[in-house]
Amino acid sequence: MTVILGIESSCDETAAALVTSDRVILSHRLAGQEAEHRPFGGVVPEIAARAHVEVLAPLIEAALADAGMHLDDVDAIAATAGPGLIGGVMVGLVTAKALCHAASKPLIAVNHLEGHALSPRLADPTLGFPYLLLLVSGGHCQLLLVSGVGQYRRLATTIDDAAGEAFDKTAKVLGLGFPGGPAVEAAATIGRAGAVPLPRPLLGSAEPHFSFAGLKSAVLRAHESGLHSAQDIAASFQQAVVDCLIDRTRRALELAPEATALVVAGGVAANKAIRAALEALAATNGLPFAAPPLWLCTDNAAMIGWAGAERFEAGLFDGLDFEARPRWPLDPQAEKVRGAGVKA
Ligand code: KG4
Ligand code: ZN
Repeated sequence: MTVILGIESSCDETAAALVTSDRVILSHRLAGQEAEHRPFGGVVPEIAARAHVEVLAPLIEAALADAGMHLDDVDAIAATAGPGLIGGVMVGLVTAKALCHAASKPLIAVNHLEGHALSPRLADPTLGFPYLLLLVSGGHCQLLLVSGVGQYRRLATTIDDAAGEAFDKTAKVLGLGFPGGPAVEAAATIGRAGAVPLPRPLLGSAEPHFSFAGLKSAVLRAHESGLHSAQDIAASFQQAVVDCLIDRTRRALELAPEATALVVAGGVAANKAIRAALEALAATNGLPFAAPPLWLCTDNAAMIGWAGAERFEAGLFDGLDFEARPRWPLDPQAEKVRGAGVKA
């Protein structure tokens, strides 16, 4: 049994966790920065980096204390090394390197997306490879065939916005606050999903790619028309996203018949309507469905520690010269998709 210290700092959550190779989360600590970013309606990179600097070291100490452990008890240190906001990623990675150097521990540089991609295996010991993963977060919207640790084939990505980005922008337009996903979901529960006609971009297209820019513009027009309540727009928007995600995932399942399970991960996977629709799709296809518990869906360090544990078992370690990567696709072989140059 190995014990991994996981560190996450790629966006607006600072987190540290201790995770074992037999799936025990010994401790996990998380400090959000919502209050700092709320006045700006989005994450401000400089503010995020400064906040990570202030809280990371005490957070690591607290995570160790919670588990009754010292750095010496840890077998390796796993830190998010990208993709993400470069200032924050550097804070976490440099901290990890310093601790590795001081305590003579191996470093494991984790791709944040791999953290999300493997997180369902932390929660579900029965989940084996290969599985089809819908990875939906604030920065990414991808369908990946996960065949093993470090083995990812990207079947689809977004040609413009990520799904979480669409939730965040919709919340901003509707004045529902920040962060947008949970606010839109809450408003949607009291709105009527059929009230506002909204587009479903790329529905039915042969490649399982995503597009949300047109939907976002339609939300803005619906709001400016003054004809609809924020709740009705939120519910209609959420239904449109569900329809797109389901149609595209159904197509990917046709393209990847070897998948033995359907899995969802990433911050948007916290959305109950999306989880329920995916679960139904999996059942229709006779596949088991796996989704991490809600707190493991949004950014956290347990998933980074777990990815570290999986890499440790596979003998995958990194040198202390590993550099932070603002962009880092999980599948470097994947074709570039029109308009998607900025999405990993
Ligand atoms: O994975 P994550 O915590 O950070 C990134 O790596 O992006 O995902 C954050 C995203 C945000 O866009 C947030 O609005 C969205 O996940 N999100 C949700 C919900 N909770 C978080 N979107 C829809 N419904 C939710 N309940
Ligand atoms: Zn994330």
